[in-house]
Amino acid sequence: MFDYQHIRVEPISPALGALIHEVDCRHNLPDQVIEEIRKAWLQHLVVFFPNQDLEPAEQLAFARRFGVPVEYPMVQGIAGFPEVVQVVKLPHEAHNFGGIWHSDTTYLEQPPIGALLLARELPPVGGDTLFANMYLAYEALSEGMRNILDSLIVVQSSAKAGAAKSREHRLTDTSVGAAQVLEAEHPAVRIHPETDRKALFVNYGHSIHFKNMTEAESKPLLDYLFAHQTQSEFTCRFQWAVGSMAMWDNRCTQHNPINDYHGFKRVMHRISIN
Ligand code: SIN
Repeated sequence: MFDYQHIRVEPISPALGALIHEVDCRHNLPDQVIEEIRKAWLQHLVVFFPNQDLEPAEQLAFARRFGVPVEYPMVQGIAGFPEVVQVVKLPHEAHNFGGIWHSDTTYLEQPPIGALLLARELPPVGGDTLFANMYLAYEALSEGMRNILDSLIVVQSSAKAGAAKSREHRLTDTSVGAAQVLEAEHPAVRIHPETDRKALFVNYGHSIHFKNMTEAESKPLLDYLFAHQTQSEFTCRFQWAVGSMAMWDNRCTQHNPINDYHGFKRVMHRISIN
């Protein structure tokens, strides 16, 4: 546990997630404050800042204190801000963007280290987001299973059916090309470069098979891990208010926005960082 001097940190669940109070993200915050936010982020994996009425330039400036903002593959940013993606579901739409359990864009050679998501317009009720702790998911496995997974490489693809569906209504013809399939190989268990802890790095959204194994051979173990890693004890649920901003660590978490607000609009501004 850290002793915070400049911010107030209020955990929202034992597994992960904490509110950060007494911070105005519009300001050019002193380095000591940023350092404490970073500590809270590494400790709680996803942190939430209530009441942040940020314009895109302000959200970008805040994101830059934690990493380098990067464009989202296959989805264009808002006018003038290529790294700020509008995550929208309109009243007549059936699918929500990213609406399955996933870590972000793990089909890239270098997936983002994190993301900042700001709520701009919300349904009257619903549209919460679930987060899950992939350190706990790994640590809860038996020693035998951990040993097996430590040696496996997992192939991640942008074309897996559920994930592709959840973004197809937002595809734009960017430099990457909307129809292109992106694939990358990553260890099934990664060591977090800042905490040195091991985190399970397979996810339902993008993991298709283990390297040197067929999809049929990989499926039983992947299905087991997809169910294991999102059990309630490893999760938290965040109920948004307009102006709430989340910042998650994509190296050790997954998230799943709940698609339970049909007939209403939800608009978020999201920035990935490396
Ligand atoms: C996402 O997966 O980036 C979207 C999360 C959300 O809309 O809550």
